[in-house]
Amino acid sequence: MSTAPAIHIENLSKTFGRGRKRVEAVRNLSLDVHSGQVYGFLGPNGAGKTTTIRMLLDLIRPTQGSAYVYGQHVRREHQVLRRVGALVEGATFYGFLSARRNLEVFARTGDRYDPRRINALLEQVGLAGRAEQRVKGYSTGMKQRLGLAAALLHDPDLLILDEPTNGLDPEGMHEIRLFIRRLADEQGKTIFLSSHLLGEIEQVCDRVAIINMGEIVREGAVATLLEGQAHLRVEAMPLERAAEVLRAQWPISTNGTWLTVQARREEIPQVVRRLVEQGVDVYQVATQRQTLEEYFLTVVQEAVRHD
Ligand SMILES: Nc1ncnc2c1ncn2[C@@H]1O[C@H](COP(=O)(O)OP(=O)(O)O)[C@@H](O)[C@H]1O
Ligand SMILES: [Mg+2]
Repeated sequence: MSTAPAIHIENLSKTFGRGRKRVEAVRNLSLDVHSGQVYGFLGPNGAGKTTTIRMLLDLIRPTQGSAYVYGQHVRREHQVLRRVGALVEGATFYGFLSARRNLEVFARTGDRYDPRRINALLEQVGLAGRAEQRVKGYSTGMKQRLGLAAALLHDPDLLILDEPTNGLDPEGMHEIRLFIRRLADEQGKTIFLSSHLLGEIEQVCDRVAIINMGEIVREGAVATLLEGQAHLRVEAMPLERAAEVLRAQWPISTNGTWLTVQARREEIPQVVRRLVEQGVDVYQVATQRQTLEEYFLTVVQEAVRHD
């Protein structure tokens, strides 16, 4: 049993084009994904997510650096990619064949073919009712579901999904997220998924790397990253007096009904004590988590400032 991480990326860079057309799509990127994790790769369009994933799957050659899957170098020990199921932007199918036939064709080219599995997968991704229809007539969302089924066909240990909910309506997105979460929780799959949707990462992932302009700007457990950004909402009377008292120690703002105090959860007792000591009545103190969206904007703006 090897203890190598499912994914190990080391100083990976990719530059496209030359001269004025030169684009540094990925810059010196490193990360590790451990077995059993659902790892989110979050970044706006053009951040370098797909390029990173293509290098990870050995579909394009890195300009610099290396990618390893279960300790094996993906270029030199290509066979390790058999343990990987992937859904990358623009998956192609035979349009004139049905979804089921497409999966059958893919299954035959693989080395582990189990026809019963195709039915189960079509069911799981919500295509059972449309399985005999030609893929040509499929919507983007349906193709995405079929791509997910194809990725799972050979029962991989690691799934690499590039924007898996693209083209789905909100209900479809919800279903696919639950499905991904279940693959990790019930089948122990390791999942690396990219997304530009903050809420998606927050709902599905254990860990996240935030990528912007080819570089990782933050990395960590989803819960911890957000916890660190918490602030307090304080309801007290009289509010003006409370603001005066707290302003000396913490940045605050108010909407006239409550105060927003830039303090951590551990500081709550101190906040309350100060108010009470100054004769202010405290009605409520609650931690308010910044949404991932607010957080994302903050880190991206910080990254730009530090450039
Ligand atoms: N084959 C290519 N040739 C030239 N530029 C590319 C190519 N692929 C991607 N890029 C550029 O690299 C950057 C990152 O793209 P991409 O990895 O697709 O981002 P994301 O998947 O995060 O939206 C973008 O500026 C994109 O235009
Ligand atoms: Mg992309």
